Amino acid sequence: MAETKKLMRALAGEVQDVPPVWMMRQAGRYLPEYRATRAQAGDFLSLCYNPELAAEVTLQPIRRYGFDAAILFADILLLPQALGADLWFVTGEGPRLSTVTTQADFDALKGVGDIDEVLSPIYETVRILSRELPAETTLIGFAGAPWTVATYMIAGRGTKDQGPAHALRTENQPVFDALIDLITKGTIEYLSKQIEAGAEVVKIFDSWAGSLKGEAFERYALQPAKEIITALNARHPGVPVIAFPREAGDNYIGFAKATGADCVALDNSVSADWAAANVQVDGCVQGNLAPGHMVTGGQALIDETKRIKQAFSKGPHIFNLGHGITPDANPDNVQIMIDAIRG
Ligand code: CP3
Repeated sequence: MAETKKLMRALAGEVQDVPPVWMMRQAGRYLPEYRATRAQAGDFLSLCYNPELAAEVTLQPIRRYGFDAAILFADILLLPQALGADLWFVTGEGPRLSTVTTQADFDALKGVGDIDEVLSPIYETVRILSRELPAETTLIGFAGAPWTVATYMIAGRGTKDQGPAHALRTENQPVFDALIDLITKGTIEYLSKQIEAGAEVVKIFDSWAGSLKGEAFERYALQPAKEIITALNARHPGVPVIAFPREAGDNYIGFAKATGADCVALDNSVSADWAAANVQVDGCVQGNLAPGHMVTGGQALIDETKRIKQAFSKGPHIFNLGHGITPDANPDNVQIMIDAIRG
């Protein structure tokens, strides 16, 4: 059967007059219906592990805006929890985890074979979504990239400069490398199970790739992505992978070819014209509207949306933000963006 979903067509390399569109964090706190369902669940993690309610918040932005893709509602930090780390969220601050900085900490983690004990509700969310989504909407599964997940596991929280992770990788490379390898293997299993449950595309979020430079980028951003994508392609041929090495800068060039990614997602620190000439030449790109426009709106939002659409119009493109939509965004601005894309 010919592929009719717009997002799948872009990932297959088709150039479309109107690109498919979705938004990172499209199910989130800027939506009153999300806040209501989260309150019903009790807290963020209870929402992630409740398949009916997680599917409900995934569907909310699809109903409201008719995006071309739905992204599974979950979090990149559920895998560390499944590997045995303690995980909790401090309201208004963010995630907290028990830390991994020594061989003993590493040895106390669970093996890849144990992750489904914690993660099976996530696969159930995927199954519900693959039944309930409209026929034209693509279902995207996701995981964090090993480096980004490791930065949280090592520091026990989000950090501005990923200092603790950089320190471990220079001061105790055996433990650091073992942790990267464990997360890499766990991610392959986790994403495989999401695909078996019905995810049609998977995305790998490397939010802190930009703090890896030179050889370190090669070793801890590029190589793990390549290992994950190679394994997924072997197990699930034809399932596209989107890679997001955020703030990679010049390292965006050639990333798709080197890793086997079907699409590279771009943050908003690179210009669309530069990315069209240097990254889109290798295939599909996604991004790169600055999320701040969803707060400020107005003519600048419309102009910038049209400019990005135009800059990427000669190749395959998935319209998206350069990073997640923020809680202070105005839901009306999302519709303004979509209208500017779809005309
Ligand atoms: O995009 C989506 O709509 C799908 C769901 C999704 C969430 N997190 C839900 C979430 C996805 C794809 C993520 C990815 C994620 N999680 C990343 C990578 C992308 C990025 O933002 O760089 C990272 C680094 C995390 C870890 C994480 N989760 C942090 C640092 C935080 C706290 C910061 C914040 O925005 O509050 C979270 C919480 C989180 N994950 C929320 C949501 C909707 C907000 C929780 C709430 O409702 O209070």
